[in-house]
Amino acid sequence: MPVTMQETMSAIRKYAPNFVAKVGMILGSGLGSIADQITNPITIPYQAIPGLHSGAVQGHASLLILGHLNGVPVVCLKGRLHLYEGVPYESIRTFVRIIKQLGAHSVIITGAAGSMQEDMGPGEVMMISDHINFHPGNPLVGPNDESIGERFFSMENAYDEELRNIMFDVSEKLKIELFEGVYLSVLGPSFETPAEIRMFQSWGGNAVGMSVVPEVLVARHCGLRVLGLAAITNLAVGLSTEKVTHNGTLHFGELTARKLIKLIPEFIKELDRAG
Ligand code: HPA
Repeated sequence: MPVTMQETMSAIRKYAPNFVAKVGMILGSGLGSIADQITNPITIPYQAIPGLHSGAVQGHASLLILGHLNGVPVVCLKGRLHLYEGVPYESIRTFVRIIKQLGAHSVIITGAAGSMQEDMGPGEVMMISDHINFHPGNPLVGPNDESIGERFFSMENAYDEELRNIMFDVSEKLKIELFEGVYLSVLGPSFETPAEIRMFQSWGGNAVGMSVVPEVLVARHCGLRVLGLAAITNLAVGLSTEKVTHNGTLHFGELTARKLIKLIPEFIKELDRAG
């Protein structure tokens, strides 16, 4: 029997009966340390939440955390579900809809990515302006629940321009360089071939990664505003003599996390101020 959203939420409500979030965060590989800034956290392991398949990849901690960041109530998903683990679309939908169900209006979606441009190296942050969905599917495939969102929904301005402008101002204030570009999603778990990277570059992609896009699709379907941040962990294959490895991803994820630890709380404060 499939798990209903009601069952998922009642499990969460046992831990936090009255918590209302304003902003959600999804933290990818090596970026979990951002959650350490959350004050008075209520921490729920994914295993305790029906409908969430627990992640098994090294560096993914798999905790739902409710608390405050810079005084703003947030819901944080630390450790994500990846389709390459064999997680069903249904779990990806549940994963993102928890954020909406807890009251958030916006979600910050972070993920490790390989850069397809040489001037944007490991340790940089790329704010996502748009994406190319190269996943062989879409988590909204299946019967549509009209109470959640429309069957055919727009992906124009999916990476909300107002949110991007706020983040740009924050990055200028904090003097942290922020790149901007198009995120191209692949299923993984294999890294790309050099020929694939050349093709993706010719399509207009600036960074490539194995996450973000399925979640953004679910988020837009249910009306969450999205800020997407790609943590550049490596130059994509063929652009450098360095080998692309998962350990390298975690190492440079940590480096980028140090920037995101400054950017994200300030962004959340400014977003809340903007109303
Ligand atoms: N390719 C795909 N996904 C990634 C990469 C990459 O080079 N780096 C981090 N995630």
